[in-house]
Amino acid sequence: MRVLSGIQPSGVPHIGNYFGMMRPAVELQEKGEAFLFIADYHSLTTQPDPEYLREQVNGVALDFLACGLNPEKTVFFRQSDVPQVTELTWILSTITTVGVLERAHSYKDKLAKGFVPNNGLFTYPVLMASDILIYQSTLVPVGKDQKQHLEITRDLAIKFNNIYGDIFTIPEESIRESVAVVPGIDGQKMSKSYDNAIPIFGGKKATRKLIMSIVTDCKGLEEPKDPDTCNVVALFKLFADEKQLKAMKDNYRAGNYGYGHAKQELFETMWEYFEPMRKRREELADNLDYVWDILKKGGQTAAAEAEKTMVKVRKAVGLR
Ligand code: TRP
Repeated sequence: MRVLSGIQPSGVPHIGNYFGMMRPAVELQEKGEAFLFIADYHSLTTQPDPEYLREQVNGVALDFLACGLNPEKTVFFRQSDVPQVTELTWILSTITTVGVLERAHSYKDKLAKGFVPNNGLFTYPVLMASDILIYQSTLVPVGKDQKQHLEITRDLAIKFNNIYGDIFTIPEESIRESVAVVPGIDGQKMSKSYDNAIPIFGGKKATRKLIMSIVTDCKGLEEPKDPDTCNVVALFKLFADEKQLKAMKDNYRAGNYGYGHAKQELFETMWEYFEPMRKRREELADNLDYVWDILKKGGQTAAAEAEKTMVKVRKAVGLR
């Protein structure tokens, strides 16, 4: 089994990213051979500032390593250290119909938002298919929003194999339905674009301030409260053990326990939960050479795998 996933470097990670994506990725490394890459080619579709992009890539690498990614178990690399994927993208694009790409939700969303689409954005699913197929991945864990991209990937693999012979492994999707529902400070799903996120590695003061601003109803201190509809409890659940959770719920129901108390408890528990990762991240940030070395070695391993597939692909399509 080869598990593969990609992450777009996009800003500071929040606790929704952690429970929805980072922790599952770290857990997966126990299950089979894992490949995880930072999708920097994909990022270019929005033309980020070059220096900013490099910083973002470093940031994601630090975040994942700090949160438990083990480079001995996971091949961790930059997408662009394997330029063969762009070669495969071209080859796959020749069997991709324009109609399929025009029907891609992510593309249609961008159009609806008034973006003038570039060809990179249009071909985004083909690059993603190449990422997956080039490593002969068997399992691809992604969020719900990527489901259609995976269907396109499977269709392309089947089509290619039908035309040119059995080259690609057909990957299984593994959709994270919501592994963990993480509400933001306003109670909507936590998301950078809703401006309601709590970063994992924010400063202490800023983090406390965010937690103190979580929206609740306006019941007074003495009044009993409903723990099952409260955002503070929903977040506390992610960090607390059963005993701590039960204690908070009992306090809610008993009254004389205010939302301020609950928020303070949430803050302390969360701060402690991420403490070892915060320390690790600081150490790694002081040791960027070590981090770059991990990515470079990962890239070499990945490129060797990719090249094996490309030797077959080039031969099959008549290029060699
Ligand atoms: N499109 C994915 C996202 O935005 C990132 C990605 C790129 C990816 N290539 C991939 C995910 C290959 C899984 C497999 O989340």
